Amino acid sequence: MTVPATTTTIPYCDVAACPAAGCDPVVCTGAGLASNDVAFARAEAAIPGGVNSSIRAFTSVGGRPYVVARAEGPYVWDVESTRYIDLVQSYGAVILGHAHPAITAAISAAASDGTSYGAPTPRETKLAEVIADRVPSCERVRLMNSGTEATSTAVRLARGVTGRDRIVTFHGNFHGATDALLAAGGSGVATLGLPGTAGVPAGAVAETLVVPYNAVPELDESVAAVIVEPVAANMGVVAPVAGFLDGLRAECDRVGALLIFDEVITGFRLDTGGAQAKYDVSPDLTTFGKVIGGGLPIGAVGGRRDVMEHLSPLGPVFHAGTLAGNPLATAAGLAALGQLTPDVYMELAANARRVAAILRDACQAAGLPARFPVVGTLFGMVAGDVPAPVDFAGAKRTDEAAYAAFFRAMLAEGVAMAPGAYEAIFVGLAHTQPVIDEIEAAASRAAPAAATRVSRAPPTG
Ligand SMILES: Cc1ncc(COP(=O)(O)O)c(C=O)c1O
Repeated sequence: MTVPATTTTIPYCDVAACPAAGCDPVVCTGAGLASNDVAFARAEAAIPGGVNSSIRAFTSVGGRPYVVARAEGPYVWDVESTRYIDLVQSYGAVILGHAHPAITAAISAAASDGTSYGAPTPRETKLAEVIADRVPSCERVRLMNSGTEATSTAVRLARGVTGRDRIVTFHGNFHGATDALLAAGGSGVATLGLPGTAGVPAGAVAETLVVPYNAVPELDESVAAVIVEPVAANMGVVAPVAGFLDGLRAECDRVGALLIFDEVITGFRLDTGGAQAKYDVSPDLTTFGKVIGGGLPIGAVGGRRDVMEHLSPLGPVFHAGTLAGNPLATAAGLAALGQLTPDVYMELAANARRVAAILRDACQAAGLPARFPVVGTLFGMVAGDVPAPVDFAGAKRTDEAAYAAFFRAMLAEGVAMAPGAYEAIFVGLAHTQPVIDEIEAAASRAAPAAATRVSRAPPTG
């Protein structure tokens, strides 16, 4: 794509023009120097689709993304200096609010001691200890760089431990962009309307069995592991029905398979001990990401000592990473977990309930049918007059066009939700009552605007 002609007068991080404009190209965010359209056009010319994670694209909601210059507390500002109340929160990685002083101070202090060494550090031990202390099933913890690396490592470990190949996953769960787990996807691929993804060889998913969420499958001795989001948060937010998680535990035990809880979203967000504490079911392995890095790149696998000790260098299952246990990410993670005392989860859950109720009431008053299912501190939106989903088939009945209309109307009112109908809506500790009041005012204007847009849309099908 060609960059619009107006850019010629806007020195947005232009290596030649920036110094002349008194701008440091290394740190410039483009704030005040470019419009969103200009900034995004430049992104599209340099980065496929202009985004470094496909779910950030506005493909399913229409329009073009706002380009973020900075963020603080509950707010993000785009390069045009427009402020949004942020309900994306880095898809759950941010929980204390953006640029929280405890986290920025920890990162700055750690950075001045060097950013990566390739040798063990006390801070990574501390973070592993904090995780093990709050999540008792994690007797040992290995840190890595992303949730995707965590789930792929957990699957490899389960296969290595059991000597079996088959993995069972659930429709509508998402475990990151790892081949074996992309047989069918949650939010990302669902939003983009893809059945799975190109580029995954049949062999990579030949041993991946995808079954309906919230129904305990009958397993056999070929199964190495069942991997599950204990609260599904990539098809909206869907709670496990009574008996599902303990049924999986019992079925795994019956055939000698490992149970993996993917707590990349729920870990340290739903409860101090994650979903496994809330539902009192103990998995063999748990994957983490997001919150444990305080907004920096991180992932972790934790689990039973006898299982975890199959990882190299103790055991035969290889894992390594140049930046694994990174000093900045572990500092940020420890700072975040340091603030997440048990009472904080009551506050988070209250914030989630309040915002969900506000959005529900605004939609109801405007005649825009929608549900906002809440599970503890997490909630989602199911647009349309459809029953509360318990699985992916139910979640797929969401009215994507109505979600898009509500999304766009909220954005126009200064509230940013995720640009995809299957994402969770994230509130954090920075969404205090005055901010929630602002959301209420915005929703009361946005819902009627969205309802009008939906009623004017030509019928589909
Ligand atoms: C449940 C779950 N597992 C794994 C992942 C992958 O994590 P990451 O994006 O850090 O690779 C995600 C990402 O959203 C997720 O929601």
